This record gives sequence, structure tokens and C-alpha cells, in this order.
Amino acid sequence: MENLEKKIQEADSLEALEKVRIEIFGKKGVLSAEFAKLKDIPASEKKEFAAGLNRKKAQLLDIFNSRHEILAQEALHKQLKSEDFDLSLYSFNSQKGALHPVRETMDKIIDYFVALNFAVESGPMAEDDFHNFEALNLPKNHPARDMQDTFYFADGKLLRTHTSPVQIRTMLKEEPPIRIIAPGAVFRRDYDLTHTPMFHQVEGLVVEKGHKVSFANLKWILTDFLHEMFGEVDVRFRPSFFPFTEPSAEVDISCIFCKGSGCRVCSHTGWLEVLGCGVVDPNVFEAVGYKDVSGYAFGLGVERFAMLLHQIPDLRSLFEGDIRLLEQFR
Ligand code: DAH
Repeated sequence: MENLEKKIQEADSLEALEKVRIEIFGKKGVLSAEFAKLKDIPASEKKEFAAGLNRKKAQLLDIFNSRHEILAQEALHKQLKSEDFDLSLYSFNSQKGALHPVRETMDKIIDYFVALNFAVESGPMAEDDFHNFEALNLPKNHPARDMQDTFYFADGKLLRTHTSPVQIRTMLKEEPPIRIIAPGAVFRRDYDLTHTPMFHQVEGLVVEKGHKVSFANLKWILTDFLHEMFGEVDVRFRPSFFPFTEPSAEVDISCIFCKGSGCRVCSHTGWLEVLGCGVVDPNVFEAVGYKDVSGYAFGLGVERFAMLLHQIPDLRSLFEGDIRLLEQFR
């Protein structure tokens, strides 16, 4: 009995302590054996003997529990230490990632307009006829619908062919003044050197109450924007047609490759088309229930910008997921 305390204190691992526990407190342990002696003890001494034994047992349990706690702590420390790793260690094989050129170009475009207080809006890619066509002054059987080969779902919904439907969604939920851009993916049935079934656009829309907004405002902001994106290029506005704007224009920059003297990229015209824009058509305002307002809108293809900025010859290479493309943009 005397050296039991010492045995507990000398256990130097949880396993060793467990053995000691069985030896002392187990069914066939020292204490059980002591308690068994009770039956041979004279009745007058039983009470005192049992009380002493119980005190001893409580005392040993105390010592056991504190020893157990110390050993458990030690085991935990040992485990943590063995699993420890140094976060500051330098990894020699780390590969740096890169932003996809489309993402990087999109961010650049967004940054320009956000700095001018435009809000960034979004809308669903699965659209309905009303938002994608009808409200944008493209009624059923309008020949301009042919400009956009559309993917249709069985239920009549469609994959949006441009980001212009976000104009409609924004105007239906807000009142002027509106100053938004809407970046996002769009879909058309097209596949060649300069067309992929999915690509990205950024739509812009500004609407004010009254007649404050003119083509002049549109011309200023797009010219400044294109200078920001492409540097010192010439910018020209060419009359064009879009159902949702009147008047409409397409915007060209002087070819950034030949500086306007004519090359293969600009088809020897000296100009590159980069944007569509115009003054918002009254029919569009009518479709969203706006009265006495004025506004302008524009739309651009992000991949076209990325291809020009990085001289990428084949649009399809942007979507093949070949890591070697990204490695060039680190
Ligand atoms: N939605 C047109 C397209 O996909 C681009 C566009 C042109 C948007 C003129 C506009 C705009 O807002 O005014 O080709």
C-alpha cells in the first residue's frame, strides 16, 4: 500500500499510468484486495477499517487524476510539436497564377467607369424575350433579330445575346438618375476566328430626368475611355443602327498596330471598330414607363478589347483553358 503513490507519480506515459490504474483500482487490483479483507475483520473494527480504506482510495484517486492531467498535457504538446509546420518557410516550387486576359481587361474597363461614379449592375444569363428583345425595341419579326443568332430553351427562355437587357431590368426597378455599367457573359450561335458561342460584354447606361443628356456627353465619355484603354489613338464616331438607340453610332479607334497606315488587322482601313452606342430610343423609355427623360447607352465586347490590347490573334484561344496562354500573362 505504501508505495502506490510513488508508482502513480513515476508513471512516465499515459500507457504506463493506465497499467498502474488497473493495478491499483482494477477489479483484481490492490484496493479490491484490501476491501476483500473486510469480511475477516472483527465487527468492532470494520467501520474504522473501511473508513480508512475509503480515505486512502480518495487520496490515491486525487493523485492519479492530477498525474493523468500532466501526462495528457505532455502528450498533447508532443503531438502538436510533431505536427508543427513553419508558415514562413519559402516554397521553392510555388507557381504564380495570372489573371485571365478577359478578367484583367474587364477589371480595367470596370475601374474606369466606377471612378466616374457608375454603379455595377448584373442580370440573369437565362433571359426572357421581353428583356432581351421586346423592351429593347426589337419586336418579334424585326429583321435586327437576325443580327443575333439566339440559343433558345424549350420553355421559350433564351440565353441573353447581349448585356443590354440589364438596362431594362435596372430601369424597371429604379428611377433616374441612372449611371450603370453591366459586365457579363453573353451567348450567340457563332464560332470562328473572331466569334465564340460565349463571350463577354460591358453595357453602359446613363439616364437623367429632363433633357440633360446628349450625344455630346456620350462622345466625351467614350473618347476619354478609349484614350484611357488604348493610349493616344484617334477616335471617330460612325453613323450606324441599333434598335435601342437613335441616333446610333459605331466607334472606331485608329489602328494600334499600324497607327492608321493600314495593315492586316485593320483590313487596310487604318481603323478598328470597338464600340456600339447611341442616344436611348424613346421606344425603350416607353417600354419601361419612363417619361421626360434622356439618356445614352453603349456596349462593347471585352474579348475584342483583350485581343487588341494583348495582340491575341485567335479569339478561341481565350477559352481553350490551355495553361500556356495564362503563363504569358504573369
Ligand atoms: N447590344 C449591342 C450588341 O450586342 C451593343 C450595343 C450597341 C449596346 C449600342 C448598346 C448600344 O447599349 O447603345 O451588339
